[in-house]
Amino acid sequence: MTHSDPIEVHPAWLPAEAFRALGSRRVLVRGEGQLMDTVAGEVEQACARYGGSWRRQRQGEAGADLDGSRYELVLALTRAHPLPSAAVGVVERGTLGDEGFALTRRNGATAVLADEPAGLLYGLFHVARLGEAAFADSRPVERHLPATPLRMLDHWDNIDVHPAMGQVERGYSGGSLFWDAGVLRDDLVRVRAYGRLLAACGINRVAINNVNVHAAEAHLLTDRLGDAIAIADALRPYGIRVHLSVNFASPIALGGLPTADPLDAQVRAWWEETTRRVYESIPDFGGYVVKADSEGQPGPFAYDRTHADGANLLADALAPFGGIVHWRAFVYNHRQDWRDRSTDRARAAYDHFAPLDGQFRENAILQVKYGPMDFQTREPVSPVIAAMPSTRVAVEFQVTQEYTGQQRHVCYLGPLWSEVLGFRPWGAEESTVAQIAAASGGGLVAVSNAGDDPFWTGHPLAQANLYAFGRLAWDPGLDPIAVLDEWIDLTFQPAAGDGGAKLRDTLHAMMDESWHVYEQYTAPLGVGFMVRPADHYGPSVDGYEYTQWGTYHFADRDGVGVDRTQATGTGFTSQYPKPSGEMYESLEQCPDELLLFFHHVPYTHVLHNGSTVIQHIYDTHFEGAERAAEMRRAWEEVEPGGLITPALYARVRERLDEQVRCAQEWRDQINTYFFRKSGVPDERGRRIY
Ligand code: GCU
Repeated sequence: MTHSDPIEVHPAWLPAEAFRALGSRRVLVRGEGQLMDTVAGEVEQACARYGGSWRRQRQGEAGADLDGSRYELVLALTRAHPLPSAAVGVVERGTLGDEGFALTRRNGATAVLADEPAGLLYGLFHVARLGEAAFADSRPVERHLPATPLRMLDHWDNIDVHPAMGQVERGYSGGSLFWDAGVLRDDLVRVRAYGRLLAACGINRVAINNVNVHAAEAHLLTDRLGDAIAIADALRPYGIRVHLSVNFASPIALGGLPTADPLDAQVRAWWEETTRRVYESIPDFGGYVVKADSEGQPGPFAYDRTHADGANLLADALAPFGGIVHWRAFVYNHRQDWRDRSTDRARAAYDHFAPLDGQFRENAILQVKYGPMDFQTREPVSPVIAAMPSTRVAVEFQVTQEYTGQQRHVCYLGPLWSEVLGFRPWGAEESTVAQIAAASGGGLVAVSNAGDDPFWTGHPLAQANLYAFGRLAWDPGLDPIAVLDEWIDLTFQPAAGDGGAKLRDTLHAMMDESWHVYEQYTAPLGVGFMVRPADHYGPSVDGYEYTQWGTYHFADRDGVGVDRTQATGTGFTSQYPKPSGEMYESLEQCPDELLLFFHHVPYTHVLHNGSTVIQHIYDTHFEGAERAAEMRRAWEEVEPGGLITPALYARVRERLDEQVRCAQEWRDQINTYFFRKSGVPDERGRRIY
């Protein structure tokens, strides 16, 4: 299947209408280079559609007289002479960095200034976001600089369809944007459109293949490098650099060497030479992503080497070219004996990596999942993030909704990420997670939720998660509900007409708290993993309880939860600094929503909210399922029209039916399970089976 028919593909947050305001004006674009060509192309298209006019001014051509109101919008590099008068005295050359931009308005003209072309690209999309407001008089000067230069998406795409995991591991959006059943798609128009969407929300790097690097995908490094070259070419016009996930055993599998020992001279030479070849073809190649000694992937442990040895091997090969290795901290024993209560998977990443702080090369980044387990609906922040002051640490999120409804459920994750990014491990006066990641030079990474689905993300409303990740990576301080509003504005508002306000209210009513709603009807109080094993969708309370995966809830007739305290449990709480470690250790201080993550308590334990644990389980499950049904009722009142096409309306409607069904299933299985275990009836006498 190819995607040559653009009408089939939903425009997401870049419908043509989003460019009406700028496309109906007189625009000047000033500057050189590939990204400036992209900016000019965008302006040209918008003006052709909406009746504006535009001009490209090259180096050395006469300056623009903005005071004479020849132009209403100027997009210019600060190095161009002279500065537009709207910027004189307001914007200092050289203060906007590689990607930042400033927006000023004076005498009827709006100017977007940047030191580098990438900044103008981001500025252009900012003008689209503002719409008419970009041209309202007396706008204050705005400066926008990203919090971190590393804002990356990881694709878990396979080249070959994997027998268990399919074309895209944990993908819920159709096939891969890059590959189709073993071959690179011959039409990469959609990849370019994807890059455009990503640039418009602030993403600048994409790792194109799955962290589980199977046989065919390993060859992307060598004889299938052509695939990576083509994808890089499609993404480059939007300022996006390509990275590859690599298999640590590649020197054996691809190089014919007897070992992949990171300290072996031949192994080092193989990586150096292979990496040199990659850069010969892709000079702006970003680097490698590695999942090593994790869930069956090879790694340095086989040679009694440390993960710093492993990461540094690749870092050294990449260093001459300015590349980076993202080394994942997702290392744990996935062959645990469920009878053994002393081994705690939550401890694993810290136990493996904290002792290695200071041993990683300058161009190695430790990529840490935001929680100590695995992208659950609710987890505490990983203690690794605060434990490695001399290491570059990237925080990894999961935009693909593996554990949060698989893009069949509405679950807007902006609030979750925002909570994590704003968490302060050392207490109220100290750094946030976002600041730690930025200051360490690590940045933010997330697993993409996009595929070849006509709506990009399966559930059309899941587009908001992709948009929100980009925006929060650019500015972690943004209010996630305001980000949602931006997304609604761009995606639906321009053509919403009179019904616009109502549609906005409906989408907010459905989405603002949808993460909490999902949390209410699924695993309670932070305990996690009550999902069906293998596909991780729908309830199965004991599905993982007697398995090797280290994901247990320990429910018995008296109580439930995992004792991770120092006093009586696994000691996981000791991995946190003060005061967060003390907060989690203390039954009194531990936040309700994480209670069962840190403590095993009786069903009669009274929460801060005044309810017992068992009653809370019943109440939240009845309420959560009811709120899912309310979402569907709200959507039923939306009238298709404008940008809510009949197809989009129907797709959301069909998913809501499944969400309501699944939420009821969760409610009934969880409530019944805990009623049978505890024997405690619901004090409100509702139906439990
Ligand atoms: C989860 C997910 C796997 C994935 C792994 C990872 O466990 O279920 O499919 O490979 O995370 O992040 O590496």
